[in-house]
Amino acid sequence: MKILAIETSCDETAVAVVDATESEDGACFEILADPLVSQSELHREYGGVYPTLAKREHAKNLVPLIEKALGDGGLMVSSDTAYDFASIEELFSREPELLASLQVFVSKVSVPDIDAIAVTCGPGLPPALWLGVNTARALAILWNKPLVGINHMEGHLLAGLTKELADGSMRLAEQRLPVLGLLISGGHTELVLMDSWLSYKLLGETKDDAVGEAFDKVARMLGLPYPGGPEISKLSERARERGVRPSFSFPRPMMHEDNLDFSFSGLKTSVMYFLKKQPTLTEALKEEVALEFENAVTEVLWKKTRDALENSSAKTLVIGGGVSANKHIRRVFSENMGAEFPGVSFEIPETRLTTDNALMIAIAGYFRFKNRDVISPEELTARSNLSLAA
Ligand code: KG4
Ligand code: ZN
Repeated sequence: MKILAIETSCDETAVAVVDATESEDGACFEILADPLVSQSELHREYGGVYPTLAKREHAKNLVPLIEKALGDGGLMVSSDTAYDFASIEELFSREPELLASLQVFVSKVSVPDIDAIAVTCGPGLPPALWLGVNTARALAILWNKPLVGINHMEGHLLAGLTKELADGSMRLAEQRLPVLGLLISGGHTELVLMDSWLSYKLLGETKDDAVGEAFDKVARMLGLPYPGGPEISKLSERARERGVRPSFSFPRPMMHEDNLDFSFSGLKTSVMYFLKKQPTLTEALKEEVALEFENAVTEVLWKKTRDALENSSAKTLVIGGGVSANKHIRRVFSENMGAEFPGVSFEIPETRLTTDNALMIAIAGYFRFKNRDVISPEELTARSNLSLAA
């Protein structure tokens, strides 16, 4: 079955079309198209995602991306089609340009051969989420297609369980449950337990900043551009290659507390105070700060994950979210899992599936559709703080 997926929860506008096939022990996804426009360059001058700008860019790029995805996927057939747009006008009362571009687009193509539309409906930035959700609702109404609302964090988690095959397609095999998920992104840091397929318990979460947010803020203090995670990683990898050992240490917040929650705001603040005391910020010092910050974050993430593994009957650990692209975190987790939990499967996303993308929404869309989680376009809403645990 073919799924059209839309992701606009933060600063990437992404659309994917996949052809999903059920296999004996899971599902295979042929990627027909997955165009993406990243806004990170534009948000750079604000040092983080600026919601109004994000919304404007999504409004500008979304319809062209849908058109590109359907075109690249060989699903676009030109034809003059007349619609009564009255049913969708109220969805775009504050977005007349988006409505106009959607009207022009749907009027020149026939209804595409897709079986469902999946869209991220939370968590994320409200104005950004709404654009994707309302566009998906409008298409579901006009094309009379089933609609599924996807939790962005479920997308990240399932992306972590997906493997790329030699022919470029993706495969998500049946998993050994329960699956423990460590979800680390720009907006979230949480440990969740999937004890039965697609059903989650929240075991712990950050009490303040998300880990990606801490990477971004510390990067900014070091004069590095947004998004800061990859920049910090580059600096610290350079220091690691030279065998640098940090000559100072930052705190490991909440590491020894008897719970599975996180806190990164104190760590960020102590980096700030440390930097204030330094007369000059040399390249070598930046590298050392990046290294020690990354060490602190990784130790906390591992300690809490280890506690969760010891106290649950998890048979699989998966990491997902933008921060799971981090080389040091990937390395430490693989080494420690092999040494301490050889009986637990360890899954980590293909690097291209770590940061926000629409493929993960298409994959989640397929499983949610199969799970009969279809929702009517009238009922679907965007929820900025949507949680994975019911
Ligand atoms: O999942 P994601 O693309 O968007 C959200 O859902 O938030 O995650 C973005 C976050 C940013 O904070 C970014 O700095 C961080 O992921 N990130 C990294 C790396 N690549 C992206 N953090 C550490 N190391 C990386 N290599
Ligand atoms: Zn994300």
